[in-house]
Amino acid sequence: QMDIYESGDEGAKLLPVSFEEWEERARKVLAAGPFGYVYGAAGAGDTHQANLDAFKKYQIRPRVCCDVSNRNLQVHLFGQSVPVPFLLAPIGVNSIFHSDAELAPAKVAADLGIPYILSNVSTLSLEKVAEVMGDALRWFQLYPPKDHELTKSLIQRAEAATVDFTLLGWREKDLRNAYLPFLSGEGMGNYFSDPVFRQKLDEPPEKNVKKASLKALEEGNNTCFTWKEVAFIREQTRLPLLIKGITHPEDAKLAVNHGVDGIIVSNHGGRQLDGAIATLDALPSVYEAVGREVPVLMDSGIRRGADIIKAIALGATAVLIGRPYIYGLAVAGESGVRQVIQNLIAETELQLAISGKSSIQKVDRSLVMKVRD
Ligand code: FNR
Repeated sequence: QMDIYESGDEGAKLLPVSFEEWEERARKVLAAGPFGYVYGAAGAGDTHQANLDAFKKYQIRPRVCCDVSNRNLQVHLFGQSVPVPFLLAPIGVNSIFHSDAELAPAKVAADLGIPYILSNVSTLSLEKVAEVMGDALRWFQLYPPKDHELTKSLIQRAEAATVDFTLLGWREKDLRNAYLPFLSGEGMGNYFSDPVFRQKLDEPPEKNVKKASLKALEEGNNTCFTWKEVAFIREQTRLPLLIKGITHPEDAKLAVNHGVDGIIVSNHGGRQLDGAIATLDALPSVYEAVGREVPVLMDSGIRRGADIIKAIALGATAVLIGRPYIYGLAVAGESGVRQVIQNLIAETELQLAISGKSSIQKVDRSLVMKVRD
C-alpha cells in the first residue's frame, strides 16, 4: 500500500489497483474471443451476478480497541501452512491470455508460498509447470475422463477433482464468438502428453490437432460420472482429494462418506449452470453439514479482501481466486499476476486489522451480519 502511495504519479500510472480497472485493461489487450472466454458466464449470467451480489448481503461488524499490531493471515490445509487464506483457482488454456501461459501464475504462487491449482486443461503439461514450481505447494485439478485407465494415469498427480463440468455450459459470449480454444489444441498439454491418451489415437496428436482435441473433449464429456467413480478415484491415491463444484449439503455429506479430504464450494464462477445458487449463499449449509469433519473451501465471485473475510466468517477455511489473476496475466504477464495477488494480500491484511482481528483464525460467524436476503 505504502509502495503505491510513495510512487506518486509515476506509480499511479503503472498497473491497475481495482478489480474493475484490471478487467477493463484486459478487455483492451485481449481479442474478443479470449476476453469473452474469461469474462463470460453461462446463460444470462444470473448465477455469475448472484455470486457477486451475495457478498453484498453480508456486512462486516468490526470490533474496535483490539491490538492488531501483529497480523497473521495464515491458514492450515492438510498439514501444510499457507501464508494467506486463498489459493489460485484452476483455470485452463492460459496461453490465450499471455504467452507465459501457466508459468506466470505458477511462479508467482511458488514465490509467495500460495498453492497453485493447475487445471486439467492447462496449455502446458503438469510436468513443465511442476518444474518451475519446485517444492512449492502444487495441486492438480482433474476433470475425470470416461476411461479409467486415463483417469488412473492422470490421477497419479491429481490432488483435486472438479465435478461440475461433465458437459460444457451454455456460454453465450463464446457461442456468439464461435470461440472454443480447445479445438485448436489449446489446453491439451496434459492429454497430449499422456501415454494412455496417445494410445487411443491412430496417429500422434500433433499430426491432427483438431481430431485429437475432439477426442479429448469427448473423453471429458463424462455424463455417467457418479459417486461410484468418486470411490474409484479415492482408491487411486493417498494424496488429499477434494471435490470442487459442490453447493448442496447432501452432496457434501456424500462426498465425505466417499472419503474425500475436503470440499470446494463452487459453481465454476457462474460458467456452468445458469440459475444455480450463489456460492456464498450455499456455503453456510455446506459448512453446517461437513465443516467439522473436513475443510470447506469456496470460490466464485471473490474480488476483494472483504469478500475473503466474509467467506471465512461463513465457514470457509480458505477461498480460491479465479478471474482476477487472469486479468493480471492478460495485462502484464507474470508481473500482472504478482501485482493482483500482492494487492489482494495487502488489502486482506488491512481489512482484517480494521475489522479488529489480528489473525484469520480469529474470524468467526460473529464478524458478519446478514443485512438483507
Ligand atoms: C475456469 N474455471 C475452471 N475450473 C476448473 O476446475 N478447471 C478449469 O480448467 C477451469 N477453467 C476456467 C477458465 C476460465 C477462463 C475461468 C474464468 C474459470 C473455474 C475456476 O476454477 C473458478 O471456479 C472460478 O473462476 C471462480 O470464480 P471467479 O473468481 O472467476 O468469479
